[in-house]
Amino acid sequence: MKEITKPSSAPSSVWYNDKNKIMGFPQLNSNLETDVLIVGGGIAGLSTAYCVASSGKKVIVVEDGAIGSGETGKTTAQLVTALDTRYYKMETVFGVADTALIAESHQQAITFIEDLIRREKIDCEFERLDGYLFLHPHDQQDSLLKERDALLRSGQTTALLENTPGIPTEGKSLLFPMQAQFHPMKYLLGLCKAIVEKGGQIYVNTHASVINHTGITSDKGFTISAKHIVVATNAPVNDTYAMMLKQTAFRSYVISGLVKKQILPKALWWDTGDQQNENGQPYHYVRTTAYDDDFDLLICGGEDHPVGVIGEFSENERFERLEMWTRARFPIETITHKWSGEVLIPMDSIAYLGRNPFDKKNAYIITGDAGIGMTYCTIGARIICDLINDVGNRYESLYAPSRFHLKASGPFFKTVMGDIEGILHKWFSGKGEQLDTLGLDEGKIIEIEGHRCGAYKDASGHLFLVSAECTHLKCILCWNASEKSWDCPCHGSRFSFTGEVLNGPANENLKSYDTPQACASASESMATSNSGYNRIKQIRSHLKNKR
Ligand SMILES: Cc1cc2nc3c(=O)[nH]c(=O)nc-3n(C[C@H](O)[C@H](O)[C@H](O)COP(=O)(O)OP(=O)(O)OC[C@H]3O[C@@H](n4cnc5c(N)ncnc54)[C@H](O)[C@@H]3O)c2cc1C
Ligand code: FES
Repeated sequence: MKEITKPSSAPSSVWYNDKNKIMGFPQLNSNLETDVLIVGGGIAGLSTAYCVASSGKKVIVVEDGAIGSGETGKTTAQLVTALDTRYYKMETVFGVADTALIAESHQQAITFIEDLIRREKIDCEFERLDGYLFLHPHDQQDSLLKERDALLRSGQTTALLENTPGIPTEGKSLLFPMQAQFHPMKYLLGLCKAIVEKGGQIYVNTHASVINHTGITSDKGFTISAKHIVVATNAPVNDTYAMMLKQTAFRSYVISGLVKKQILPKALWWDTGDQQNENGQPYHYVRTTAYDDDFDLLICGGEDHPVGVIGEFSENERFERLEMWTRARFPIETITHKWSGEVLIPMDSIAYLGRNPFDKKNAYIITGDAGIGMTYCTIGARIICDLINDVGNRYESLYAPSRFHLKASGPFFKTVMGDIEGILHKWFSGKGEQLDTLGLDEGKIIEIEGHRCGAYKDASGHLFLVSAECTHLKCILCWNASEKSWDCPCHGSRFSFTGEVLNGPANENLKSYDTPQACASASESMATSNSGYNRIKQIRSHLKNKR
């Protein structure tokens, strides 16, 4: 079987590498019909396929790269009730009762995964372990106390400890017992096997180009018609506006380093996040995983920033800062891996799981992972399976993608619109750089005869030219030096340097060109290419008028 990979030169994670690639599934090469069609072969799509196939429905999954080649291959795979947003903050939006329901849904998702692993005999290094939340230096001293009280109100077990087990230099911490972790690619492999055993079909290297409530048409022109369609592409690629105005995309960085076995307790660790950071509140998240007879790997993530807005530190500096933070707290030796991935932060902090708004009733989405996608995607899979089977689910309305919490909307829109307008203004009032300023292994937006193109020159001097406009809503793209990709600052779409779409909501590749002249003559001129900026201005003034 030919190895199938998505075109990308992105660094591989601890999990998604040659050793753990899931092989053996074909590309779609005929027209098919099914009960349930799922677009996306990450944890959301495969969990849904598993639930739906277990309920006796005929299911097909299509994935445009390899299984796990999206964010699931880049995760740190902590299975937690310790969410990124503090429970005491969620109470102000959802109230105490629904905040308790949120906590319960994550507890149940972990138990569901544990039972599934046992039932299907999946060898994926699943283990239960405790987690510790400690204070970021920029956070208020009483933050842990407030969180403890909210945890107790939501029916969870916790305790405020005088220290942070495993990190003697940190002070108090809040205990989250019975969290879990696993190897995400081994879990996906187990899900794939179980889906196939239950009669499901999986197609890889199959891009769903056209998606609607009746099914899909693949990039090779084959169709699959279905009674129900689930779009599990992380950012929903069947949605142009509705969902992407309700969430923002962030890039998160991860390193792993060798640590001698037995030195650290088995645990998960998090800090409460940088409350003074105006681009969100990036926090650190840490776990370990087995490596060899002598060492484990300590995996640490953080340094998040909005996609396409690198801010004051470059991608490499972010990895360096992460390493410094980790070395200051943990006895790590050689760094083995560095990678980054994308998380989607919903405006009210919890995921969107269920029927796709403004669509037919048989179209469903799983998005807005909030950095907690292992459990959210599992909760989403179960809600959607119940909707398809017309069975009640107690979390359906809580996570309905059509919901809108006014209390959570103000600061969100202000930040999102302000950021986007600023970014776009910068791009449209500034000039692209000249092609001859482009160094080896560098990417830039360049200006050719008054037209903009995305240009990347690889280490051997080969030039790759693409359109500089995102295929979602035409914002101008930014270069991501670590992933060697073109990233969109508006809603987080990403493209490889050769133009293939890597992350939605865009679902179309960028146009690529052989010569600078071809790119210039195909691109809109700078004077007229401010369509994205004007669109955002229109939305902003529309929102102002609504208030
Ligand atoms: C650095 C990092 C650390 C994280 N750590 C944690 C953690 O510790 N715990 C936790 O719970 N969560 C964590 N998350 C979040 C979690 O990894 C994600 O929420 C989850 O993996 C998302 O799964 P998914 O199936 O929705 O998306 P993906 O895994 O991205 O799957 C979507 C798939 O859809 C495919 N696709 C897209 N468009 C098409 C199309 N048109 N046709 C066919 N296929 C298509 C893509 O190729 C992709 O494989 C982390 C995320 C990151 C980036
Ligand atoms: S992701 Fe929306 S314009 Fe690029």
